[in-house]
Amino acid sequence: MTTIPQIITIAQQKGGAGKTTLAIHITTALLQMGHKVAAIDIDPQASLSHWFAQRVQKFGDDLTGVKLIKTSGWKINSEIISLKNKIDFIIIDSPPHIETDAKAAIRAAHLVVVPMQPNPTDIWATKATVDICEEEGVNYKVLLNRVTPNSKLAEVARKQFNKIFKNTINNRVLFASSIQDGRSATEIQPKSAASNDIKAIIKELLHSLKALNKPHKKAA
Ligand SMILES: Nc1ncnc2c1ncn2[C@@H]1O[C@H](COP(=O)(O)OP(=O)(O)OP(=O)(O)O)[C@@H](O)[C@H]1O
Ligand SMILES: [Mg+2]
Repeated sequence: MTTIPQIITIAQQKGGAGKTTLAIHITTALLQMGHKVAAIDIDPQASLSHWFAQRVQKFGDDLTGVKLIKTSGWKINSEIISLKNKIDFIIIDSPPHIETDAKAAIRAAHLVVVPMQPNPTDIWATKATVDICEEEGVNYKVLLNRVTPNSKLAEVARKQFNKIFKNTINNRVLFASSIQDGRSATEIQPKSAASNDIKAIIKELLHSLKALNKPHKKAA
């Protein structure tokens, strides 16, 4: 039987919203659950690839657990096809715009995760990213990132979108510090508050993917 990888694209035209941080944490959390995961970096800034280079240094070439592919948007579909039957999940980190490359990554996804910090400029940028997902007919879910607990701004932001994760990612130093040597919060401190944030998001994410549960047309 053919297994089609579930494809999760992290997209948001606003720079610094947390795309790469989330791509890393979703990738490693799925790995830790025993899934086979590939991470595709189509951002010319190559932050995800830099993280992976640190991971190779830390663990050695064969022990990173992740298949990292650095490519450009137009090659995404052929990369996805090459991963068929080999991988359970593909996580795509995209650049801070919604031009051709980023649109290709959105189109390829079963689910687009749109990180958004709870402030007006992120909300405005998120609306544009969400509009692209809707135009392309792709499933998406906004994810509140860098939230301060009990923040009124987060509640205001939440009300702007119907498709939004119930759980949030809080603003925590561990999300930044843990990735510097090619690891992640869930790998370095599995019982931390940061890890709990990620685990709750993964649970919701897997639930959403299961609910969609349809074969991917472009990779079939
Ligand atoms: N939940 C969080 N808590 C604390 N720091 C965070 C969190 N999420 C992201 N950051 C920090 O915010 C900064 C931007 O994050 P990141 O690089 O992941 O954003 P990005 O959307 O990928 O940026 P770009 O658009 O430039 O690719 C980084 O310094 C990262 O460590
Ligand atoms: Mg990035």
